[in-house]
Amino acid sequence: MLLAVGGGISAYKSAELCRELVRRGAIVSCAMTRAAQSFVAPLTFQALSGRRVATSLMDASEEAEIGHIRLADENDLCIVAPATANLIARIAAGMGDDVVTTVLLATRARTLLAPAMNVNMWRNPIVQANLRRLLEDGRFETIGPGVGDLACGWVGEGRMAEPLEIVEAAQRCLRRDLEGRAVVVTAGPTVEDIDPVRFLGNRSSGRMGYAVAQAAARRGAKVTLISGPTSLATPPGAERTDVRGALEMRDQLARAAASADVVVMAAAVADYRPASPSPSKLKRDVGTTQLDLVPNPDILAELGARRDGGRLPVLVGFAVETEDLEANARQKLEKKKVDLVVANRAEVGFGGAENEALLVSREGVQALARMSKDDLADRILDRVCELLSAGGSATPPRAPPP
Ligand SMILES: Cc1cc2nc3c(=O)[nH]c(=O)nc-3n(C[C@H](O)[C@H](O)[C@H](O)COP(=O)(O)O)c2cc1C
Repeated sequence: MLLAVGGGISAYKSAELCRELVRRGAIVSCAMTRAAQSFVAPLTFQALSGRRVATSLMDASEEAEIGHIRLADENDLCIVAPATANLIARIAAGMGDDVVTTVLLATRARTLLAPAMNVNMWRNPIVQANLRRLLEDGRFETIGPGVGDLACGWVGEGRMAEPLEIVEAAQRCLRRDLEGRAVVVTAGPTVEDIDPVRFLGNRSSGRMGYAVAQAAARRGAKVTLISGPTSLATPPGAERTDVRGALEMRDQLARAAASADVVVMAAAVADYRPASPSPSKLKRDVGTTQLDLVPNPDILAELGARRDGGRLPVLVGFAVETEDLEANARQKLEKKKVDLVVANRAEVGFGGAENEALLVSREGVQALARMSKDDLADRILDRVCELLSAGGSATPPRAPPP
């Protein structure tokens, strides 16, 4: 793997990171920005990695065999630590003005950024916009920064993640435990048309389902994402089908689920739809009016019921509740015959970038702390992998009729 070191005070922690990676058996090549070399000497990284350190793009001997392309091609993961504000900006701008940015521009490997900077730099909307741009690319991930005393004297967000945390995040990036598995994810709201311009919808942003789709693809799965209307970009590696209403989602899901190993139902499917949508725009001048609604099919329960006998995909449902979270989740688990229910409160999960959930399965309840939806997606998939290795669905097929 490649360890790219930026010019921040926490570059000294990257020496420890390099040591830790090598200790765990990784082959580590290091590259340093010019500013990084003012904080720690390349010799330190050379001694720790046992390999020559790339310090300059315009070095005749380093580039005798186009070293920057070799570095870009031969590494399965790039770690940028510390990822300075300046380095994040240069990567986001697509620059290749030194050996670090040029390698990162040329590589197709996943790249883990460990940002480290002053709290006000970190909160600067320009820094955040640059980071968002990289995360939208799908090849980049971040670890940290943490909160605490900063070298600049401020206290707050901006501390580079500790070397062991970065090692763990690197291991997560390299995991391929869903290789060869077909994973179907539904995401976003469904919208039910009232007339050609109005609809009934809900506040789901789609972020949780998209995070699951992205994590599953990163972990090697063949991912089909069935999405209600959202403003989100398709996660890299996922094949996306767009739908509007619950009936359309049900059709697409039935098709995709037939060959799936795992189905994750993260979509917020509308419970009701207008009984007879108007083909033309409804006018206001009718005065007080009424909208007749009919219940939508319970897509999750239908899938659960269909699993009796035959091929059993692992089935994950979501429960968004305002009260009695655990009791409602347990009820859903049994009633809808799913293997895992991810239960969260409506006021926490909807719309934001974070979530706080209970993972409820027949084996028990796991209460997770509040975390990013990306992290939660990985935790859900960890449980899915356990269910898969336990032999697929935890719901036993129904006994044949006597
Ligand atoms: C003592 C000192 C500490 C610095 N620490 C940081 C830091 O932690 N994070 C950061 O983004 N920039 C920091 N900077 C500013 C960067 O060194 C500067 O933006 C530099 O151009 C970064 O270059 P690079 O991103 O190419 O490595 C620091 C500068 C100095 C002089």
